[in-house]
Amino acid sequence: MFKVNVTLMKKCRINFWTIIIFSVYTFGCNSTEEIDPIIEDPKDQNDDKEEEVVAIPLKELFKDYFPIGAAITPQHADLATIHGEALVKHFNSVTAENVMKPESLQRNKGVYTWEGADRIVQFAKNNNLQVRGHTLTWHSQSPDWMFYDENGELLSREVASAQLEEHITTVMSRYKGDVYAWDVVNEAMSDWDPNGEIIYREDSPWYKIFGPSYIDSAFVFAHRADPEAKLFYNDYNSIFSWKRNKIYDLVKRLKDNNIPIDGVGLQGHWMIETSEQDIRTTLDLFRGLGVEIQITELDLPVYLSSNEEGSMVYTETFSQRQKQTYSMIFQVLLDYKDVITGVTFWGIGDDASWLDQPGRKAFPFLLDENLQPKPAYFEVQKLLN
Ligand code: GLA
Repeated sequence: MFKVNVTLMKKCRINFWTIIIFSVYTFGCNSTEEIDPIIEDPKDQNDDKEEEVVAIPLKELFKDYFPIGAAITPQHADLATIHGEALVKHFNSVTAENVMKPESLQRNKGVYTWEGADRIVQFAKNNNLQVRGHTLTWHSQSPDWMFYDENGELLSREVASAQLEEHITTVMSRYKGDVYAWDVVNEAMSDWDPNGEIIYREDSPWYKIFGPSYIDSAFVFAHRADPEAKLFYNDYNSIFSWKRNKIYDLVKRLKDNNIPIDGVGLQGHWMIETSEQDIRTTLDLFRGLGVEIQITELDLPVYLSSNEEGSMVYTETFSQRQKQTYSMIFQVLLDYKDVITGVTFWGIGDDASWLDQPGRKAFPFLLDENLQPKPAYFEVQKLLN
């Protein structure tokens, strides 16, 4: 897990953190909600009085609203582990954190590796969990042979398209009936242009080969492979006006052209100071398009910025911040239950997150390092009582 995270952090540091920080400071600081100043007082979260209240499992809490999911590794798919136990107790949906990505399933052309993905799907079937598939078409964590020939030249459209169709068809056919929804295309839109002139992520090899039409093709291939599966476009920073408008235009164009798309995945890598209004405006916008909305990768690191000193201890300050922001987030999600058809955390509990760094834990979930409910959990529970 740690190895994977380091790789991902390296891969994503520029593309992701820089963007988040850039976004939050440049565009996202219009929150009307002030975070109360809190006196630093590290203490064990088990001391918190609210933990005396009995926790209602998350899937019970949200049963009249939406399925609640977690991103997992194949090792978590085991009832003999605390992870497996927490999964069946709290969740009714799972997503493979990595093992359904192109580089995991088909690292070498024509050679599929199903073991990890099969294990997750079997565990889900045995324990009545839905499975969200992630992801079929992405510029990252995809093998080079999908884009380049043996001389390192970009493939022709014909070859790349045939390979993409083969990949999507093989993967979706294997899990037909078991995976109810797929992130068909992940992160195709550009971040770097607040003026809206650069629409797509033009450095993606998919874009270099096809222009934007690979997005259309991927949805068509996916629908052919499993007409029953729900098909999603998934992206991050999707609550900021400059990005959500691009995603809106894309989804509208796909719908207007009768490309089979069912919904939008808002990743939900949010921040303590994420603006309630930004989330509501985004949900209103996509609701207006008549598509389903899923929060697909929810996590909420405890820091106010990347400059804040890292901690390996979950302090009272962190707890207060998460109580406030998680409560805001879930109140909004409950308010939009008519369009939100799933909420998935990008992990299970604070023991492991892709956001963790040496000396700086992110503590981004509602379950703590032992997968027990945190004070923020009880705050969310209060919303439903
Ligand atoms: C993105 C991807 C996920 C995952 C996270 C970070 O949001 O969609 O697959 O890689 O980054 O772990």
